[in-house]
Amino acid sequence: MPKITLLRNGKTYEVPMGTSFLDFCIEQKAPHDFGCTAGSCGTCVSVLEQGAENVNPVSDDEQDTLEMCTTVKGARLCCQLKVLGDITVRQVKVGVVLSGCGFLDGSEIHEAVLTLLALDRAGATAVCLAPNIEQKGVINHKSGHPAESVRNVLEESARIARGKIQDIAKAKASDLDALVLPGGYGAAKNLCDFAAAGPKTKVDPSVLKLVREMHAAKKPIGAWCIAPAVLAAALKEAHAKLTIGDDPGTATVLESLGARHVVCPVTEMRVDAENRIVTTPAYMYDARISEVASGIEKAVAELLRLCR
Ligand code: FES
Repeated sequence: MPKITLLRNGKTYEVPMGTSFLDFCIEQKAPHDFGCTAGSCGTCVSVLEQGAENVNPVSDDEQDTLEMCTTVKGARLCCQLKVLGDITVRQVKVGVVLSGCGFLDGSEIHEAVLTLLALDRAGATAVCLAPNIEQKGVINHKSGHPAESVRNVLEESARIARGKIQDIAKAKASDLDALVLPGGYGAAKNLCDFAAAGPKTKVDPSVLKLVREMHAAKKPIGAWCIAPAVLAAALKEAHAKLTIGDDPGTATVLESLGARHVVCPVTEMRVDAENRIVTTPAYMYDARISEVASGIEKAVAELLRLCR
């Protein structure tokens, strides 16, 4: 009988010849994400690491959907697969931790969107997460001054995620292959209090729990811009090698938290292979969006490579 191996849980299952992959997942409660189940939404897109020749060929309709949802060579829609021999399936699910909406008090919108775009183009599924807490202050992004307003981080982050967002307190490392934290001052104000507390930074408890679970499971974590401060404070004992660009003042504070800072230009990224941490400076520099995109695209590619 053909065998299906799922890289997400590392398990192998035997199935009768010609089994629909969708039916197999439903019957076995196998961990794979589906949406429409009809080949039109792209939610189930995955890569066959092995056995691409052991499934039914791509139909014209499947090809049309694949062209809309991914640029990954060899990707397939798993809701359309019939299993005719041994296959190994990789569907990567990446948690994207948002911290509000707007670079002065929440997630940096360009960085968040560029991250979602890079993940989507690579065929990975993004799962947007944010803490369900009150935002630490609101800034008028036109004037740059504090505004009289009360906002919720989860609700603000939902603007970027087009409403598809989960409370990070309910997220589990076992459901994710990687985690990424775009920057913006929200990372230093809402995900942790680095902006106010510096060397005495404390991380939001729900963010802290997920970051530590991911690190303990040796799953890769990415952080852009000022968000490496969250990792430095959450993983002090790991002495993570990370970058926030070339600002010596901020680098010194990160090192006081136990991190090892390395300088990096905006268009590049740095990898701590031991801790499986990827960082890029993004808007820590006064940079063009195309330069920020270059760094984030490289960092996302490395994050996904570490998932294999
Ligand atoms: S679940 Fe929608 S395309 Fe497969």
